Amino acid sequence: MTTTEPDRSELERQFEDTIGRDQRIEPRDWMPDGYRSTLVRQIAQHAHSEIIGMQPEANWITRAPSLRRKAILLAKVQDEAGHGLYLYSATESLGADRSELTGKLISGKQKYSSIFNYPTLTFADVGVIGWLVDGAAICNQVPLCRCSYGPYARAMIRICKEESFHQRQGYELLMTMMHGTQGQRRMVQEATDRWWWPSLMMFGPPDADSPNTAQSMAWKIKRHTNDELRQRFVDMTVPQAEALGVTLPDPHLRWNAERGRYDFGEIDWTEFTAVIKGNGPCNAQRVAQRRRAHEEGSWVREAAAAHAEKQRALRQVRPGEGAA
Ligand SMILES: [Fe+2]
Ligand SMILES: [Fe+2]
Repeated sequence: MTTTEPDRSELERQFEDTIGRDQRIEPRDWMPDGYRSTLVRQIAQHAHSEIIGMQPEANWITRAPSLRRKAILLAKVQDEAGHGLYLYSATESLGADRSELTGKLISGKQKYSSIFNYPTLTFADVGVIGWLVDGAAICNQVPLCRCSYGPYARAMIRICKEESFHQRQGYELLMTMMHGTQGQRRMVQEATDRWWWPSLMMFGPPDADSPNTAQSMAWKIKRHTNDELRQRFVDMTVPQAEALGVTLPDPHLRWNAERGRYDFGEIDWTEFTAVIKGNGPCNAQRVAQRRRAHEEGSWVREAAAAHAEKQRALRQVRPGEGAA
């Protein structure tokens, strides 16, 4: 083994080759430390966002206006828990420790998407989150199905299918409300006004202020820049807003025939920075709730560990029986 082990430059060449051929890097493959740590950071942040993202909408489960709406919302929030679990598993395939990552989330050392620090004030927010927030997530995540890291790319395929259900349920809810009373239409417009700009911020800082993008694109973790994805989202959403009959709260939004795309106004990056730094309307509440849930779940983790220990002891007493 010592004499046949390829040297580092050979390993690097193989890694670059695999990326160059658009093939996948798998957990057993050699990879540069920076590639591994970038992926762990990105996937962990993604997993945290799925789990924290359950909170704003879970706020409405007990008050959903019908059994049908409650069942849909429950299924959606449960999907987000599943997304978090696939993604934590993907980080474990890179050698990360899930409990450590949870520790970083609840101590504020690791971030999650800034969008989940805004409150859900009315039931129309459930629809607008599905339409805009899940819609933005789809724009971000569809290209990740082609990410160079195999386990992440494969997790994203299923996640994207479920996200498209989330987006449609949101849009269908809003369409129903827009065909309802004057008051319901007002609720939809008001929720759209509050969520539009934070949704555009979900794509991250402008390209000029996103120093890691170039390396992530070279490694084919990321396939498009933040600004490209944001533009794609705007172009996709404007006709949907028109069909719905709501106004997007941006006086500068207009079709640019020369570019063949929509122009839109300046994003308030000071708000984005404040929310990222922990000063959004719900940051403290979201993290406190996650910490409480983690503490309340400690008996489940202890019971599972005790059960595993018991099984191991049993296998030692009866070797061969039930041993994997
Ligand atoms: Fe999700
Ligand atoms: Fe979703």
